[in-house]
Amino acid sequence: MAVERTLSIIKPDAVAKNVIGQIYTRFEDAGLRIVASRMLRLSDAVAGGFYAEHSERGFFPDLIAFMTSGPVVIQVLEGENAIAKNRELMGATNPKDADEGTIRADFAESIDANAVHGSDSPASAEREIAYFFATSDVCSRA
Ligand code: TYD
Ligand code: MG
Repeated sequence: MAVERTLSIIKPDAVAKNVIGQIYTRFEDAGLRIVASRMLRLSDAVAGGFYAEHSERGFFPDLIAFMTSGPVVIQVLEGENAIAKNRELMGATNPKDADEGTIRADFAESIDANAVHGSDSPASAEREIAYFFATSDVCSRA
């Protein structure tokens, strides 16, 4: 299996709940390494550009309002099969549908405040990592 990188965001609801460390532990316990990390507040423009693929969806204004409602923690995760592995750890988009023991099942309240983001494909991982990090910011072990 290939070593991959994926972009992960701990969203404002999870930062407010003070579970950054618990979420990082899940990444590490699954064999993923945090190879870049930053905490920041997203502007409307930055959040809108990040979620551009959803800009025509009815939930878009609420999504941007939520993502800008408080600080987020953004990281690059690296490891075998990192993109799919992170999506597995996250659980389904709607926490009501998320498998037991996933991050969203354990920490998220609702589909619009669902604790974490994770890239869904190699192409989106590449775009999303470049959106938040310079190549020299990623301390890759690969
Ligand atoms: P999406 O990319 O479909 O989900 P995921 O985060 O699992 O990749 O949607 C992006 C975010 O948009 C999602 O995490 C929460 C929000 N969203 C809603 O608020 N309502 C919805 O019906 C959907 C599909 C998404
Ligand atoms: Mg998505």
